Amino acid sequence: MISYLAFCGLILMFYWCYRIISDKDNGFFYLLFCPRTRTTDGSKLTEAVAISKEDKIYKNTFDFKSLSNEKLFNYARNCASEYKRSYLLHGPFTTAYNIIKAEDLEDVMKDPGLISKGRYYHFLDDFLGEGLLISSGSKWHSRRKLLTPSFHFNILEKFLEIFKNESLQFLTILDSQKGEAVSLQKTIPKSILNVICESALGVKLNELQAAEEYRKTIKKIEHLQIERAGQLIMYADLIYKWFGKKREYEKECEEAHKFTSSIINSRREDFKSVYNVGKRSKFALLDNLLLQEKEGLIDHKGICEEVDTLTFEGFDTTSTAIIFTLFLLGQHQDVQEKVYEELCTVMKDEMNLLDYSNFKYLESVIKESLRLYPPVPYISRVVTQDSVCGKLILPKHAEISIHIFDIHRDPNHFLEPEKFDPDRFLPENTKNRHPFAYIPFSAGLRNCIGQRFAMLELKILLSTIVKEFRIVPVTERKDLKFEAGLILRTMGELFVKFERRV
Ligand code: HEM
Repeated sequence: MISYLAFCGLILMFYWCYRIISDKDNGFFYLLFCPRTRTTDGSKLTEAVAISKEDKIYKNTFDFKSLSNEKLFNYARNCASEYKRSYLLHGPFTTAYNIIKAEDLEDVMKDPGLISKGRYYHFLDDFLGEGLLISSGSKWHSRRKLLTPSFHFNILEKFLEIFKNESLQFLTILDSQKGEAVSLQKTIPKSILNVICESALGVKLNELQAAEEYRKTIKKIEHLQIERAGQLIMYADLIYKWFGKKREYEKECEEAHKFTSSIINSRREDFKSVYNVGKRSKFALLDNLLLQEKEGLIDHKGICEEVDTLTFEGFDTTSTAIIFTLFLLGQHQDVQEKVYEELCTVMKDEMNLLDYSNFKYLESVIKESLRLYPPVPYISRVVTQDSVCGKLILPKHAEISIHIFDIHRDPNHFLEPEKFDPDRFLPENTKNRHPFAYIPFSAGLRNCIGQRFAMLELKILLSTIVKEFRIVPVTERKDLKFEAGLILRTMGELFVKFERRV
């Protein structure tokens, strides 16, 4: 019996080797156990998509080995400039379709079957559980339905005061550092975490030490996630647990959960009295979740998942957007003066929600900053059943990597893409733009639920700063170096000076 099995095994092995050697085009797919992408009309794959480094039988398996975060970031940029069209990468068990063209994105964004997040997101499972960012299927549908009303335009009115107060607090911080070179990375995130905690969670962060620790914890979690993404062998949970840094990662998650749990508990106490007396004038997003809990629509674990997701998503992204916009305003004094002039005409003592929509030029500046430096530079999806995308049939389990950073630099949609030019977003210049050429908040079903919230927060904070201070450049744009991450980050800090306007 054993010799019979051994014989069959040997035959299979010979057959396998024969297929690898004889099938020049597809040999590597067998060797890497890598699902194969086909074209809808049977034409050559290379006619529909670029394929990276066809000469190597092990394909892109070792491309990321020992790459620093900076090189990892540049790897994707180099692929984009080399291929100039969307491309496939192959590794063991993995096909990754990398999209850098708006035209190729259409089918992905419109397909309700393509809403499951890529495998890298699941490295965050311990941190974010099945919160809105990571969940899929019916869980995602029900949570999205539950949370959507909390981000309705009318609800934002309630957050105006919080945004305004935090902006005024920020001026005091800038006053204490005026004339000095200020590190934007050290200054901005503190205020933004305060804003998200007060508006989304209803808790004032006077305990700045705890907030400081939370920020550090998030950075560490992100660092561990990127490190894991760069080591193929660590993708398997058991290997990561036995030989990787799973324990360190879990410890960081515990720290982060402690922070958000303490917020939930303290709000639950406040909420009891508010709910009982029916005073609901200043309702935080967390209060809505607590209300849904009373109605049996979500449980405590679900609330924790959503609170962690909202603080994580709402804090780092918005901070990054403000950091880059202030930096760009410093680099472009003419644009800054135009923003200031607009503020002088539009701003009044009591600004309401609609008044902020009159900041047309400031809005273009923010949009252009989000184009050049999208806070989320890359997102991904996993294919759960063979799916047609343009001329491609992507196999089950393939990853779709959407490089927002490169899509925003497509010269077919943005002439001189590296140029900072807010006029690109004036209404007359956006009329004929491809709907997926500009996607800082993603698009389709899984677009950012907090985009209106973020835009309002950005407008209020930036208008308050520019009205009172002139931003003077310190760090030069040519010196920016980026590193791979969930959020767009530079290798060093960005510095500007703030000078009081007279
Ligand atoms: C400038 C600021 C922001 C940017 C650039 C941004 C960008 C994005 C992007 C690109 C996605 C899609 C992620 C993916 O598909 O993997 C996303 C999703 C999400 N964002 Fe934002 N975001 C910002 C602010 C916020 C804020 C302020 C909140 C909450 C208060 C928030 C909450 C979320 C949530 C919960 C999701 C998941 C939505 C879902 O999958 O249904 N974001 N964001």
